[in-house]
Formats: sequence, C-alpha cells, structure tokens
Amino acid sequence: MKEKNSELIQKREAAQLGGGKARIDKQHAQGKLSARERILLLMDEGSFQEIGMLVEHRATSFGLEKTKSPGDGVITGFGTIHGRVVYAFSQDFTVLGGSLSETHAQKICKVLDLAMKNGAPVIGLNDSGGARIQEGVVSLAGYADIFYRNTRASGAIPQISVIMGPCAGGAVYSPALTDFVFMVEDTSYMFVTGPSVVKTVTHEEVSSEDLGGAKAHAEKSGVTHFTAGNDVECLRKVRDLITYMPQNAMELAPQFDSVLFAKEKLNRIQNIIPDNSNLPYDIREVIDCLIDDDTFREVQADFATNIVVGFARLDGRSLGVIANQPSSMAGVLDIDSSRKGARFVRFCDSFNIPLLVLEDVPGFLPGTDQEWRGIITHGAKLLYAFSEATVPRITVITRKAYGGAFDVMNSKNIGADLNYAWPTAEIAVMGAKGAAEIIFKAEIAAAEDKEGKWKEKEAEYAEMFANPYRAAERGFVDAVILPEETRSTLIAAFKSLEKKSETLPKKKHGNIPL
Ligand code: HXC
Repeated sequence: MKEKNSELIQKREAAQLGGGKARIDKQHAQGKLSARERILLLMDEGSFQEIGMLVEHRATSFGLEKTKSPGDGVITGFGTIHGRVVYAFSQDFTVLGGSLSETHAQKICKVLDLAMKNGAPVIGLNDSGGARIQEGVVSLAGYADIFYRNTRASGAIPQISVIMGPCAGGAVYSPALTDFVFMVEDTSYMFVTGPSVVKTVTHEEVSSEDLGGAKAHAEKSGVTHFTAGNDVECLRKVRDLITYMPQNAMELAPQFDSVLFAKEKLNRIQNIIPDNSNLPYDIREVIDCLIDDDTFREVQADFATNIVVGFARLDGRSLGVIANQPSSMAGVLDIDSSRKGARFVRFCDSFNIPLLVLEDVPGFLPGTDQEWRGIITHGAKLLYAFSEATVPRITVITRKAYGGAFDVMNSKNIGADLNYAWPTAEIAVMGAKGAAEIIFKAEIAAAEDKEGKWKEKEAEYAEMFANPYRAAERGFVDAVILPEETRSTLIAAFKSLEKKSETLPKKKHGNIPL
C-alpha cells in the first residue's frame, strides 16, 4: 500500500510543476504568479479541491507525444470564496503556452457543467495562446464546446473571466461571452490576432500593449470591466466583486448585516448640485452620499465616462447603480454609454439585483458620427434593457431629464416602480434656450430686440419646465424629495419592493437591437 500511495504522491508532485521550474521562474520574473498560485489565492485558504489533475492529452502530431504534462495546461476544480462555492479553472502558460487542446477543453467544460448543475459562479483565469495549433480542428472544436456552454450558462450563473497573460483567439472569445472581464496591467493582453499577424495583414505596426493591453481595453474598446496593478490585487478584486452577486439566477445576493454610513454625508449631499445648472459636478459624489460607506464598485470606470455604472450596497443589500455623469460630456447619452448602461442593466436583471438610476442627462448626442454609427440602434439597447427589466427599479432625477433621454433613463412609463426628483430637477423636451428658439421662432424674428425677446421666451419656458412640478402633477414622478432625505427614502422604497414579482410575456427570447 505504501508503494502505491507514494506513486500517487509522486504524480501529484509532478503535476505541481506544470511546464517545469525554469518556466515557472520565467513567469515569476515577469511579475506573474503561476497558475496554481493564482487559483489558490482566488479561493478561501485550504478550500480548493482539484479535479482532473492527472488528465493528459492523447495527441501525437508535430512531436506532441513528447510534451505530455499532467493536467494538460489547465488546473480545474472548485472551492469557496467567502464561504460560498465557486468553480474555477486556471490556465498554465508554462505548458505549451496555456494553449487549449482537446483534453484541456474537456476539463474546462467539466467545471462549466458542474457549475451549471449546482448553480454556482464560474471563474476562468486565462493565460493562453488560444487553440493548440498542433492539434488542429480538435482544439477548435474544444473552444466551440466552451463557447456553447458559456452562452447557455449566460444569465443562469455569474461567469467571470480574468486575463492574466497574453491571450489570443479562443482565449479572448470565451471571456467576451462571460459577464465580467478583469485584466492585469502590463502583463495581460487580449487580441483576436497578435501584433505580428496585424503587421502581415494590415501593415500596421503596433505593440502588444497598444493593441490589446489593459489600458487599451479599459479606455478604448470597453472589453475589460476592471483592471488591477498585479495578479494579487486582481484576484482580491474578483473575490470582492463576487460578494455583490447571488450564486445563480434563482437566488438573491448575500445581505450584509453590518452597515456603516457616515452621517456627515447628509450635509454634503445638499451642496453637490451647482447653482448654475450648466455647471458640471461629479455624480460619484452623489452615489457616495447615498450608499453604505465604501461599497461602490465602479464597472468600466474608464470607458464611456459619461455614464457611471457599478455595484453598491444600500442598507446591506446589493444594488446596481446607473448614473449619468455631468462631469463627462455633460452626461449626454451616446453609442458607448448606451451600450455600457444596457449591458450592466441586463446583468443586474438576470441576477435579481435591484436598479437605482440617478438621472441628469441633456439628451442624446447629435451629429453625423453618432448617426452613421447607429446611435438609433445602440440607444435603443438601453431603452430595451430597462423596459425588459423586472427587478425593483427606482429613479432619482437630480437635475436634467431632457428629451428622449428622460424616457430612456428608467422612466415610469417604461416600467420603473418608483420615480423621485430633487427640487433641482428640470424635466422637459429640451433645454429652455433651444426650446425657445424653436417654438417662438417667428416671434423672435419679428421682434426689434431679437436677443432680448429670445431671453424673455427662454425664461418663460424655464419657468414652466425647469422644475420637477409639472411631472409631479401628472404622476410621472411619485414624490419630490430633498437630497438629504434620499437615502432613507431609497431604503424604505427598495424594502417595499422586496417581494416584487413580475414576469415577461411568454416567449422564446426577446430580440434586443444588437
Ligand atoms: C501551441 C503555443 C500556442 C498555441 C503559444 N504556444 N501559443 N503552442 N499552440 N496556440 C507556445 C509557444 O510555441 C511557446 O512554446 C510557448 O507557448 C510560449 O509562447 P511564446 O510565443 O514564446 O510567448 P510570448 O512571446 O509571450 O507570446 C505569447 C502569444 C504567442 C502572444 C500568445 O505565443 C502567440 O501569438 N501565439 C499564437 C496565438 C494564436 O494565433 N493562437 C491561435 C488562435 S486561434 P516554446 O516551447 O517555444 O516555449 C483560436 C481559435 C478559436 O484560438 C476560435 C475563436 C473564435
């Protein structure tokens, strides 16, 4: 028995080494952890249970028979994060560049299937050059098996992808199908094809960093939702984010009993909106003054900064916040901000996370660039996402709610449950200046003092609509509340909506304008 046991121990020791000590040392020298170190750090200490450690590939072409490595370049299994079960895989770049073989794919599919059957989140730590080139079509089919499962699991269990090295091909398409993507600065890259292929095909010279580094995807493409300075910080952020989510679409996110809220924020919130309604302010200050202390986790913070989205807690409960940002392009809605907002709304709705909308929006961005790139279709995504959402939904209009954007930003008429406005709210088809120019055009043209007439008419329109009271008279807002009353109002309002039950008409699935 001793002999047999020591055989197992030896096999386990071999598996610990992945592609060998020299390659692990190289990984460390680049500031990266090994695949095993990562998955152990991700999980609660001592909770990780590995499956598939002894799996080996069966391929023989191009000398592959000499490259067998126990585990075949991916560590798979389950464990807990803050006591809740999660499934995970961690690709090992030291084994054939973490490339995906037939068996490597089967191991990932196994954890995806287990996560689905058991209703638990799945987290992929990606560090892979994509499909294993030597295996040809079987590795492509392996990726297709993963994509299929990612898609079937979408909206059923949370799926998080962490990019921790150079990832290409299928190693970026699987993450793109999941809910949230994390990237590590300076050591992780995502591209469909790397710089050398780009050079051959388009003659463009571009570095890995510029093409698909964390900064490029955080600011330009919006492909990544979160970035971190190194592997350790990144995994800590993943562990934190998961606390805002339920295990699956049938459950609620965990509730936290200890709630901290600094009372001074009730004073601070009264002075955030500037007297001049054309001046900017940072909506994140309003968010901070409403939610439990230090609980805001902004998603895609550097992309489409004219809208702010993220998770927060209010009285210990998870909340999805969607807020126009007056300090970036005056908070206008454009293609990118509509897409960003819509995707976040749909995640929250899939996983029973109530929505809080803070509205200060001058409208949709006009111009040929936006029109030709399809602002109509993309703006409709946000409208569709809100209209479709059945979770509790509350809107607070802090200032401007102009034009179509009033409708889009979770208006009562597209199904919001409770709509509030601050006394500073302005709810109109457009700003007073533009409105006066259009509806009093003839009168202004006929006047001797055109400028004076315009100003007079602008004031008349502002008097009528630059306030929340016309909307309150008609019930489009349910109450006008003071900024300092907002937190307590929201706590009571979300509590009243806790048992909300609403179902969509029976259908296969809707047809969101993609
Ligand atoms: C087999 C691979 C591999 C792959 C890397 N390696 N990618 N082996 N299949 N896809 C091996 C290398 O041969 C090398 O082995 C080791 O991993 C490390 O790779 P390096 O190139 O030395 O590392 P680095 O310079 O850091 O570059 C990493 C990289 C690059 C950017 C990922 O390796 C690369 O461009 N790989 C190919 C990417 C790709 O085109 N994949 C196919 C995508 S198609 P040795 O033994 O020399 O150390 C795909 C289809 C899915 O995935 C469908 C999508 C819809």
